[in-house]
Amino acid sequence: MTKHVSPVPQDQTFRAEVLSGLKADRKFLSSKWLYDDVGSHLFEAITELDAYYPTRTEFTILKENARQYARLPGARGAMVELGSGSSRKTDLLLGTFQDLSVYMPVDISANHLKEAGERVRRAYPSLAVIPVTADFTQPLGNLPLLPELPVLVFFPGSTIGNFERSEAAALLQRIRDAMPGASMIVGVDRPKSEDILVTAYDDPAGITAAFNQNLLQRINRELGASIDLQSFTHKAIWNAAESRVEMHLVSLKDQDVEIGGETISFRQDETIHTENSHKYDEKAFAEIADEGGWRILGQDTDKDGLFSVYTLQAV
Ligand code: AVJ
Repeated sequence: MTKHVSPVPQDQTFRAEVLSGLKADRKFLSSKWLYDDVGSHLFEAITELDAYYPTRTEFTILKENARQYARLPGARGAMVELGSGSSRKTDLLLGTFQDLSVYMPVDISANHLKEAGERVRRAYPSLAVIPVTADFTQPLGNLPLLPELPVLVFFPGSTIGNFERSEAAALLQRIRDAMPGASMIVGVDRPKSEDILVTAYDDPAGITAAFNQNLLQRINRELGASIDLQSFTHKAIWNAAESRVEMHLVSLKDQDVEIGGETISFRQDETIHTENSHKYDEKAFAEIADEGGWRILGQDTDKDGLFSVYTLQAV
């Protein structure tokens, strides 16, 4: 059984957000729309690419420190995973947290969540698995309550990097308010050479390009549009001033596109900004955690300092 907690994004929300984003002066679409079923599977493929270092690096850090994380109070209670995409990281923690009683994966993609939930149930029959379909960029107040159980929030993958600094702090605050007293394990990607960063978001096999382009296909599928996919190309750039990788879809020509009964005009080289992936160093992340109401218990990194895993305690 999957719990559906409102507000789950509905067709109306998608349509309204696509149209308002594409009518803006600088066209943009929220990166959360990248994760329909097709997009979620393409993202899984990205995590296995040589060029995409974050997933394997975070996995190594988690593996090296899992026994230490097992001492966090919530590791004996309920683990709430936000954006529960990748299975391997979860499996690693579930295998180590022998006394965990509840696993609550929260994801925007219902089918993805269903598959993941069923797999975990089979692997850990004594664990109560409570999948929740929800958009955690929206208020979290209506997550199912877990009275009496200490909570450990698992927020891997540097998903927090998809938010602007102030939004990231606001999100941490909402998590704290929804789960008072919780501890958290959060993955945060770090700044590094432009070359490594851009290759990670524009891989030679073109999987990231397909992931980004899928957003146009999704608009075609769900909003009855007929965007010519060949007329847009994937671009990843490092924005040093904002310390983030940006993904864009670049229009290769002047064109008018019909979407949901409206006409959207593109100039040649005009872009749709589809994702920000902020890279936070210790100082930047400490500020965000502090503003969000969390105390940093520790930080673990890999030997090359590519990625950080922080443990936090709600204050
Ligand atoms: C899982 C959202 C953190 O920003 O690195 C991967 C998504 N986008 N390649 C990231 C992503 C392009 C990923 N997050």
